[in-house]
Amino acid sequence: MPIRMELLVCGGTGCQASNSNRVLEVLREEIKKAKLESEVSVLMTGCFGFCEKGPIVKVMPDNIFYVEVDEESARKIVAEHVVKGRIYQEKLYVEPDTKEKLPEQSKIPFYKKQLRIALRNCGKIDPENINEYIAADGYMALGKVLTEMTPEAVIELVKRVDLEVVEAVVFQQV
Ligand code: FES
Repeated sequence: MPIRMELLVCGGTGCQASNSNRVLEVLREEIKKAKLESEVSVLMTGCFGFCEKGPIVKVMPDNIFYVEVDEESARKIVAEHVVKGRIYQEKLYVEPDTKEKLPEQSKIPFYKKQLRIALRNCGKIDPENINEYIAADGYMALGKVLTEMTPEAVIELVKRVDLEVVEAVVFQQV
């Protein structure tokens, strides 16, 4: 059966200090109890950047961002979200100014002004699995340099890497 859902658990230092390893174990146990191992995967990722709100758990493809997840709420996330398809409201991020619950990471003001470049895959892939990096277009630039460009063209590219390339990256993603 194809994987229909991924639970991404932050494995960064901050979240580990807040017990994300145990959260990961509980999620795996609950998925197993629900007999959903063949369709729901639980992965440890790199830091999401919002360490003060950890442990972070993100549910994909629903794109729901849970914060301060503990053992009990990990069980609820499986029971409510994974099994019943209902967002578990108790662990959504609450914006302090408006008291609004923000289920999507990209809507949280903390992330709105950020543009991750080198760390853009953090929180999305398992950093210990090279295949996930390759699936996220890892090494594409190296492949292009080695197969499509001359050494002179590479040197020219590096010389103008400053504004031109940064602008291209920024305008693609904003
Ligand atoms: S360590 Fe989890 S968000 Fe940074």
